[in-house]
Amino acid sequence: MEALIPVINKLQDVFNTVGSNSIHLPQIVVLGSQSSGKSSVIESLVGKSFLPRGTGIVTRRPLILQLVYCPKDDREHRTALDGTIDIEDWGVFLHAKDRVFRTFDEIRAEIEKETDRLAGTNKGICNEPINLKIYSTKVVNLTLVDLPGITKVPVGEQPPDIEQQIRELVLKYTSNPNSIILAVVTANTDMATSESLAIAKDVDPDGRRTLAVVTKLDLMDAGTDAIDILCGRVIPVKLGIIGVVNRSQQDIMNNKSIQEALKDEASFLQSKYPTLAARNGTPYLAKTLNRLLMHHIRDCLPDLKTRVNLMISQYHSLLLSYGEDISDKSKTLLQIITKFASAYCAAIEGTSRNIETTEL
Ligand code: GDP
Ligand code: NA
Ligand code: MG
Repeated sequence: MEALIPVINKLQDVFNTVGSNSIHLPQIVVLGSQSSGKSSVIESLVGKSFLPRGTGIVTRRPLILQLVYCPKDDREHRTALDGTIDIEDWGVFLHAKDRVFRTFDEIRAEIEKETDRLAGTNKGICNEPINLKIYSTKVVNLTLVDLPGITKVPVGEQPPDIEQQIRELVLKYTSNPNSIILAVVTANTDMATSESLAIAKDVDPDGRRTLAVVTKLDLMDAGTDAIDILCGRVIPVKLGIIGVVNRSQQDIMNNKSIQEALKDEASFLQSKYPTLAARNGTPYLAKTLNRLLMHHIRDCLPDLKTRVNLMISQYHSLLLSYGEDISDKSKTLLQIITKFASAYCAAIEGTSRNIETTEL
């Protein structure tokens, strides 16, 4: 996401300055059956290990993860850090607002504790979300939602209607038209019977906001491959089907870093799927998400332009009524927008789009 950080964050500043709330970036909602790799995908997108993961039902409450860009000189947010203002990233939970979580291990432990508090320790689930903000010098302001996995058979203290309950929970987040659905399917199961793609199709019949992510490419049976799946010959997905390799449980126990995992993913794709390697893998998934976010921002720009025009003319009349010459002042705002519009154009390099903001 790094290339986008300055552009999106500055554009967001402009939107805030002109009082527009229309740049709410889409929430990215991860949808899939239990242990399909949802939490792993979120972690590799964020680039940090901070989520409880494992083979059973681990995610038992929705986690609404808000990434907040916080530059080094942002005193306002950093006052919470009591002096250590050079810290790169930290977390704050809505249920414990006054406490700063300075390491990702602490964050993970708190998610586990808070899950147990409301969902019990015996595999129960709870609809009440955990809200976590991660402040960082290296993120864009974006919200990711991790959900309990779709399941059919109740275990532990799960109620008999667990399937229905999780389905309703999942529908609540995925039916939001301002969400991008990452429908996770595993390479070692039958994609045609995938619950996540079926649900995605229900809430997004035109497939305008669904991206399929195929996990566990490394776990396919010897002699089989995912070429048909990845090329959309099993089930086509308009926005794309992207294969990834996340860390295995053994990797996690061995403390393999995400950076190492990304390297191994790249060489796996290169050797097993040489012709498809460039269009798969976690970095390509991140790039594709960036593109979708950019499209969203592009769609918000006409509204920004209207608001800025309106503000200029309002201030114009106000200042004229004071008898001031306003030509310089209105120009300043215009220059800011123009600058951001060109930064935006640069960020979506290669795609020729006519952004009219510069013609204000
Ligand atoms: P979730 O329940 O959908 O959130 O799935 P998790 O992210 O917790 O992953 C479930 C288990 O599958 C964990 O033990 C992960 O390490 C493992 N896992 C996830 N993705 C992959 C993958 O691409 N390859 C391998 N080998 N294991 C994976
Ligand atoms: Na799991
Ligand atoms: Mg999970």
